[in-house]
Amino acid sequence: MKTITKKQDLISEIDSLKATGKSIGFVPTMGALHAGHMSLVNRAVNENDCCVVSVFVNPTQFNNPTDLEKYPRNLQHDEEMLRAAGCSIVFSPSPEEMYNAEEMNSTFEFDFGGLDQVMEGKYRPGHFNGVVQVVSKLFSLVRPDRAYFGEKDFQQLAIIHRMVKLMNFPVKIVDCPIVREESGLALSSRNERLNTQQRENAVKISEVLFESRNFVPEKSVNELIRWVIDSINKVEGLEVEYFEIVDAATLQAIDKWNDNCVGCITVYCGDVRLIDNIRYY
Ligand code: PAJ
Repeated sequence: MKTITKKQDLISEIDSLKATGKSIGFVPTMGALHAGHMSLVNRAVNENDCCVVSVFVNPTQFNNPTDLEKYPRNLQHDEEMLRAAGCSIVFSPSPEEMYNAEEMNSTFEFDFGGLDQVMEGKYRPGHFNGVVQVVSKLFSLVRPDRAYFGEKDFQQLAIIHRMVKLMNFPVKIVDCPIVREESGLALSSRNERLNTQQRENAVKISEVLFESRNFVPEKSVNELIRWVIDSINKVEGLEVEYFEIVDAATLQAIDKWNDNCVGCITVYCGDVRLIDNIRYY
């Protein structure tokens, strides 16, 4: 396994893989890898000749400087996990290598077709501009045949599908299911910041989401939303930022049940922001 930090070195390495007809599977990450990330990596290793993983905490997608600063980083540990999984190339550039000063200080513009006006987009303005900015740059460098993304970040996945369509990237996006702890808690790099009590509280999020499925369709969409928010807010130390039930394709809020809807939630557990989602069909 090679670790590459310079764009030019990555381009040369990919050029030689392409010249020998090797297929490339790509997994973009921000590191602090866990079994959720590794499920994507394992698929990329199995389904391609060569697996490339990027480890880059992308500053342009953070709208909260404290969140960026506190984001866990452990490249050495990540490299060990990736080597053991059969990854071929780790790309871990510095922010200066990825962006020039102008890019760092301006907002990347993209036509989201409304996908960024709801949920994460509403509460983290500019977040998805940064995601599209970095993923489009990475796609141009890695030129993957397949790229793997988790359904844990449901809205991000919808936006990546739109980006690929609008920008004509010749890549197949592979949607991967959420990996959870045995307790139900969705794996997240941010879980590392939870203390024992907070971790116990956080389990309630998925518990409530799973239980809420039993109430469909008896409860109306709005009644179910209220029930989920109240049940989670009842737990000391948890505070729901938003819970919305949306059409899985358009991400627009629904008011009547249909067979393609998903409930997306963000909860503050102390100062740690956790996201999760559940399908209702
Ligand atoms: P990061 O949060 O590191 O996640 C990298 C990939 O792992 C994403 O596709 C995410 O959906 C997936 N993932 C994380 N936790 C998961 C879980 N429990 N089950 C399944 N998949 C999971 O998402 C990002 O980084 C960034 O926004 C990025 C796309 C790398 C752009 O900077």
